[in-house]
Amino acid sequence: MAAIFEATCTAPVNIAVVKYWGKRDTSLILPTNSSLSVTLSQDQLHSKTSIRASADFTTDRLWLNGIEESIEKNKRLVACLRETRALRATLEAENATLPKLAGLKIHICSENNFPTAAGLASSASGYACLVYTLSKLFELPLNASDLSVVARQGSGSACRSLFGGFVAWEMGEKADGSDSRAVQIAPETHWPDLQAMICVVSDEKKGTSSTEGMQLTVKTSALLQHRIKDVVPKRMDDMIAAIHAKDFPKFAELTMQDSNQFHAVCLDTYPPIFYMNDISRAIIRIITEYNKDGVKAAYTFDAGPNAVIYAPKENMAEIFSILSHYFPGAAFDDSLNLVKENPEKVAAGLPQNFDARISPVFAQGAVKQILHTKADDGPRTLDSAQHGLLNAAGLPK
Ligand code: DP6
Repeated sequence: MAAIFEATCTAPVNIAVVKYWGKRDTSLILPTNSSLSVTLSQDQLHSKTSIRASADFTTDRLWLNGIEESIEKNKRLVACLRETRALRATLEAENATLPKLAGLKIHICSENNFPTAAGLASSASGYACLVYTLSKLFELPLNASDLSVVARQGSGSACRSLFGGFVAWEMGEKADGSDSRAVQIAPETHWPDLQAMICVVSDEKKGTSSTEGMQLTVKTSALLQHRIKDVVPKRMDDMIAAIHAKDFPKFAELTMQDSNQFHAVCLDTYPPIFYMNDISRAIIRIITEYNKDGVKAAYTFDAGPNAVIYAPKENMAEIFSILSHYFPGAAFDDSLNLVKENPEKVAAGLPQNFDARISPVFAQGAVKQILHTKADDGPRTLDSAQHGLLNAAGLPK
């Protein structure tokens, strides 16, 4: 049997507070504006990938969540493989003692620890994990920013998942994309009490994909041009300043304004794109009412109806109690001990002087699941012998 080379890693999900929406180059995935996100904990949500290179393999193969998928048909995946193999080939040319991995076939096995059906973005963690794992397998001497340039070509938002904490994707200006990369604004340890609550909203319809939706916006929305030129550059500066100062009210205001404007440019797209539904809009009203005497929470929505609520740790029990009032029956995993540590607060119902009439109480299961998580670290490397996803034959375990 030939020698085995293998790496296993996990990578996190990130949720943008200044949204990426629109490409100026669709094959290199170069955006029309810079964006900024918070990396969420892998303890709750992550992609995990094992990649093995072996002279015994006759073709490159890929399994996603247990199902074999074609590699050739996926141009973005092919680009990530091509780039990392070329970097490995250069290393091998410079150092004759290195094992020759660049020319070997590989098996890739990747899975998410959250259901794809929940509608949570998995392309960001998935591509970040793919590229990070390839860099470990090939022992590439690249930093996270350099790797983000490769991950960006898998999915734009993936470039931000190469770092923990608070991460900007600088749009860059070069045609080759070499300056369109992620940089860390602050590590997760800078603001340890920033937490997030993800409301998985029930929705039967399959929405427009981000990839398709954003290009229709680029083609048809006049409001997007205003956003790109006049709004985002200043908002990026303000957001970075708010994060450095740990100014939650400012951070929250900018986050909500940016989510609102992202959904406004979707509505300004022709024909219009709707990602939020009645449940999403009720969550906006609830958070707005909660914030009426001072900003204590921020909502944000991506290309789907799910809400992500950012708030300081001390407000989370109250927020959970309010959400439980309007959305009965949501499944909740208490891995951060919110219920365990705050039994009275989470059962308190609505706070005093909260105007209950701002939204009806929804039917059981309108919000299917509530996930409590926090800002946390970037990709992690695991021991393949213990945690690998491939068996001795190089097939999924
Ligand atoms: C609304 O990164 O999924 O989540 O680059 O085409 O793969 P592609 O798009 P994708 O778009 C994410 C859009 C967003 C906002 C954001 O994450 O910044």
